[in-house]
Amino acid sequence: MEKVYILGRRNGIKEGVLRIGRYYAIDGSLGSDVYLDGLKPHVILICGKRGYGKSYTMATIIEEMAMMEENLKKNIGIIIIDTLGIFWTMAFPNKKQEEELKKWKMDAKGIDIKIFSSPENVEEYKKKGIPARELVMKTSELAPYHWAQLFGLSLKDYVMAVIARAIDRMKGDYSLNDLINEISKDEKVDERTKAIAENFLNMAKSWNLFGKDGIEIKDIVKGGKISIIDLSPYGEEIKVVITAIIARKIFEARVKERKKYEEALLKGGKIKEEVPITWLAIDEAHVFLPNEKSISKDVLIKQWMRQGRQPGVALLLATQRVASMDEEVLSHADIIISHRLTAQDDIDALNKVRPTYMHESIGEAVRRIGEERGVAVIIDDVSESMHVIKVRPRMSWHGGEEPSAKH
Ligand SMILES: Nc1ncnc2c1ncn2[C@@H]1O[C@H](COP(=O)(O)OP(=O)(O)O)[C@@H](O)[C@H]1O
Ligand SMILES: [Mg+2]
Repeated sequence: MEKVYILGRRNGIKEGVLRIGRYYAIDGSLGSDVYLDGLKPHVILICGKRGYGKSYTMATIIEEMAMMEENLKKNIGIIIIDTLGIFWTMAFPNKKQEEELKKWKMDAKGIDIKIFSSPENVEEYKKKGIPARELVMKTSELAPYHWAQLFGLSLKDYVMAVIARAIDRMKGDYSLNDLINEISKDEKVDERTKAIAENFLNMAKSWNLFGKDGIEIKDIVKGGKISIIDLSPYGEEIKVVITAIIARKIFEARVKERKKYEEALLKGGKIKEEVPITWLAIDEAHVFLPNEKSISKDVLIKQWMRQGRQPGVALLLATQRVASMDEEVLSHADIIISHRLTAQDDIDALNKVRPTYMHESIGEAVRRIGEERGVAVIIDDVSESMHVIKVRPRMSWHGGEEPSAKH
């Protein structure tokens, strides 16, 4: 098999590679193709100033995964946490940039996706011909600290203690109505507090997000498939809680799969994995990985980043605010892709990552790349090198462009 240089991988065998772009020279000319490893779980961080190609690059990488060899792709599931509701356009061909695509000898093409979102959005997506399903979480999967986050309460608040007591008594799966009913039966609690607890839970009912039954992780994560969790209809607290729950469940499912896999290997057999190696792509990642305490950060850092290699979970993160993210994220990212960046605090944050193999700071390198969109500096910890590239144009339509008053 042909051998090439692959970012994020030690050997150069050209299989399961993602062709993300070409080398870019300061005079704007393009060199040979740039490949990224698509087989091993990585933590990839895409950063840069607004409008220079973060979401675009993220989608390009995902398109490449969707085009991987069938026998490899079937072992990888991709989930996009879409906070702004911009990734559905992946289903359609990139007619906007056909000229650009021609230069790269590529054709505009939509890709297969499935979207999970609110009932209203599902209806809209179906009208557009995109497969979509309502996002429903199992009520029983929420622990008291999830509810506290959703309601803006502290676990020390009396009303929260009342809800937690009821959760503690629930058995099996239950609906929000079942929970409200359980609270009403609590003889230790006065009517006023019961009414407040019920109010909170009724508010949760209005989000149409929790049911006795919910979506199973194996419905969302499927080998060779791309699932988009469109969280745009929900407030920030809800986005954080849903992401935390989904991420935790994937992680736990993968740990179990690995165990089954090892056991089967010991016996000399093979198993079909129910939940494949999973890539979680999170745009606007600072929302989920802030400096401050956060439920989603707990799962993503403590489980996905610190222990994710072994169970096979990988992250593709994009943010315009490196400085407001937990510092640990930068130290776990083995591939950093930085588009143009000008805010000094973000450059400073990046500069703290100063591997010994680099001759100049990331900040200086990023400054040199100029204003062209889609150009980026890549720092690859596996090959211990830094590269300047131009990300290839997307085949599928890019959503989420800034609105302009001109059209
Ligand atoms: N690699 C690229 N090739 C061609 N155009 C690009 C590329 N990357 C970004 N662009 C252009 O830049 C615009 C902004 O990119 P986007 O990814 O939405 O920015 P952000 O960094 O804010 O997420 C896109 O709408 C697209 O027109
Ligand atoms: Mg963006």
